[in-house]
Amino acid sequence: MVRNPSHEMLSPPSHDELALQQYVLSLKHHVGRQIQPRKRDIYEQRGKPAFEKTHGRAPESWREIGDVMLSDPDYQMSIALNTMAQDLMWESVADPIYRNIDTLGESYWRLTNSPDKKGSLELDPDFEVPKGIKEVAIHRQVGTYAYDRGEGDVTAGALYEGGGNIYSMGIGVGTGYSKGEIIQAFLKDRYPGFEPKRILDIGCSAGSSSTPYAMAYPDSEVHAIDVAPGLLRYAHARAESLGVAVHFHQRSADDTKFPDNYFDLVVSHNAMHEMPQRVTEGMFKESYRILKPGGIAVHQDLRLRFNDFPLFEQFDFRWDQLHNNEPYLVTYATNDPDDLFLQAGFPKENIWSGLVDQPDGTMKWFVLVAQKPDA
Ligand SMILES: C[S@@+](CC[C@H](N)C(=O)[O-])C[C@H]1O[C@@H](n2cnc3c(N)ncnc32)[C@H](O)[C@@H]1O
Repeated sequence: MVRNPSHEMLSPPSHDELALQQYVLSLKHHVGRQIQPRKRDIYEQRGKPAFEKTHGRAPESWREIGDVMLSDPDYQMSIALNTMAQDLMWESVADPIYRNIDTLGESYWRLTNSPDKKGSLELDPDFEVPKGIKEVAIHRQVGTYAYDRGEGDVTAGALYEGGGNIYSMGIGVGTGYSKGEIIQAFLKDRYPGFEPKRILDIGCSAGSSSTPYAMAYPDSEVHAIDVAPGLLRYAHARAESLGVAVHFHQRSADDTKFPDNYFDLVVSHNAMHEMPQRVTEGMFKESYRILKPGGIAVHQDLRLRFNDFPLFEQFDFRWDQLHNNEPYLVTYATNDPDDLFLQAGFPKENIWSGLVDQPDGTMKWFVLVAQKPDA
């Protein structure tokens, strides 16, 4: 398995579209490797001394750092370049998808109506997509995750996966390991012999975090939930195209509607930072409720304890909230990992959080883990 597997729901770019995608990738590498690291120099060499000269002291909050940085022309240019690279990325993936939209619709119908179909899709016509998903173009994704032209429309999921593939290469995550495989390696190491029979992936989006579980544990029953119909349709067709069984549902993290004591493993990948605090807390409570005794919850996302970050990092971390449409990012990051699990009922001795190594040693991933006590 690889992070970005090939399948029928992808929209191969034409010659010119590929050239644009390659240009975007080069621009993202340039921004990430050359421009971003210079932000700290801008602050140390110009912003901070200027602030000290005016105020007779160093900045004492991220807001004060923000005041000096946002008026610096080089920092302004770094914001502009980074934002442009992101918008151009969406344009570069949208072109082949829009051109291919009829074929994608046909593939969706064929894959999801095939007699060999392995998984399922359950959309809820009465489900209210949360405002923070419907009205915010998270990551600046064109149309929002909630873009939906009705039955059979897979555009939102196609965009999410296309953009994600370029984004992950742009920030150097590489194409070797899916997030699911990183967690599976971690589980093998920390809980040897743990073989989940029923698994839930929360906030599954295009399903690329869900299918690796169905592949790694072929005898298990894998469910995945998200709030946006266009993501779920795409995820369903994508999983069928990969030949794996995943059951997708339109449900919310804080109200999963599964019975008590149902799952051996509940996971989420990069989902919490896109949820309001109330939903994140609800998701931890749901994790406890729906896990069987002895079951394990693993929630992977960006690092926590924002208030302990050095001041410049507090300012810098906010970039995505301010410029990349991540309205819940900082609220999420101010959480204490133990508190989320403790409030949900997990005992302290069963809770762990920290950085997990990618198996090739190139990266670390932040996870929150807890085991529900045996009955
Ligand atoms: C950044 S995506 C992560 C997708 C996927 N897990 C991955 O790693 O590629 C976050 C997902 O969380 C979903 N989400 C946001 N609020 C949610 C909620 N209340 N319940 C379930 N999913 C939610 C979003 O729709 C989005 O698809």
